[in-house]
Amino acid sequence: MSSTSREVILGVGAGIAAYKSADLLRRLQERGYSVTVIPTPASLNFVGSATWEALSGRPAPTQVWENVHEVAHISLAQKAGYFIIAPATADLIARIAIGRADDLLTNLILASDVPKMLVPAMHPKMWNDPATQANIQTLRNRGFIVMDPDHGRLTGNDSGQGRFPETARIVENFDAMTGHKQDLRGKNVLITAGGTREAIDPVRFIGNKSSGKQGIALARAAQLRGANVHLIAANMDTSYLSGISITSVESARDMQAALNLEFTSTDILIMCAAVADARPVQKLTEKIKKAFFTSIELEANPDLLAELSVTKTNQVMVGFAAETSNHIESARSKLTGKGLDIIYVNDVSGGAIFGKDVTHGTILLRNGEEIALKEVSKDALSDVLLDHAIRQLG
Ligand code: CTP
Repeated sequence: MSSTSREVILGVGAGIAAYKSADLLRRLQERGYSVTVIPTPASLNFVGSATWEALSGRPAPTQVWENVHEVAHISLAQKAGYFIIAPATADLIARIAIGRADDLLTNLILASDVPKMLVPAMHPKMWNDPATQANIQTLRNRGFIVMDPDHGRLTGNDSGQGRFPETARIVENFDAMTGHKQDLRGKNVLITAGGTREAIDPVRFIGNKSSGKQGIALARAAQLRGANVHLIAANMDTSYLSGISITSVESARDMQAALNLEFTSTDILIMCAAVADARPVQKLTEKIKKAFFTSIELEANPDLLAELSVTKTNQVMVGFAAETSNHIESARSKLTGKGLDIIYVNDVSGGAIFGKDVTHGTILLRNGEEIALKEVSKDALSDVLLDHAIRQLG
């Protein structure tokens, strides 16, 4: 079973290997997953909440008694696409096997039916104990993926089977569970996101409502499929993204300069950003006093896509359009006018879609094909657009 959600719950049990899960967390983030860490209360003896919160950029609750009004054991469970429990101790495995719900992690496990993977780590005698082996069998029978621990030296002088596996092997198993295609491995995907700002004076600008959410969803989707992703981000927070190279820009002309640097080595360009069509003729260094702030003289900005398509070699170019009327006709003329392979048009009448997690619109292809999408998540749209872009790449 595979999910389109990028949300992962990383459950941390009370084993000394808990510190190794900090590296696992980073590797998952680099692959485009958003990770919430749910430690068991006892595991905080090994690694404290501050570490998990700093690394994940999110709260790391342990009990259902924290933020009760949010009903976290249900809301987090509904959002999660996958669970990975690492390290899974003998006690935690036993509690999951008998369906206990005595901390937040075990509540979440019961309240969610998405794919779950356990990474056991414990002393070989505990691993080989018939009780542990029976619990593992129970969980495997219920569909949990349970990795076998590595053989080797343990924390004390003993050795045997029980070591926490290398992060690379855990990630490999996790990829196998999620079933995400790796069909962009080695490809360079360039994405623009957010909305450009054109300065009027030091405090004012011409901007737009683009939140950057769709661009981030695209960047994550491409990353999950193995691409080298470069994001040109206009006026948006990118501090929580990892494993993606980022150029932050402000104006359309900044974005053009960043695009020119990256475009030749790009396989797929997705222009998701809302680019200001015009800028003030004069950018004043002093704030304009209100008595004089009555009109702004504008001049056109370059059409970034149209200019790139003139220099294009093998790049697949994907554009976005936000329209309030005549969506399909306007988008089709942008598809041909800007030399694009694909365009996604969404209906933004009444301000719909901006800042939301879902979208609805139509994908238009050069061959005349139209694919209408109703109320899809921005994650799901990203995967469909990438499918089409990959098909065009050949
Ligand atoms: N775009 C661009 N350069 C611009 C304006 C837009 O490259 N100066 C890109 C956008 O990133 C988007 C596509 O062109 O992928 C369509 O953007 P949109 O704003 O809908 O089109 P415009 O050409 O600006 O047309 P209009 O505003 O008249 O609808």
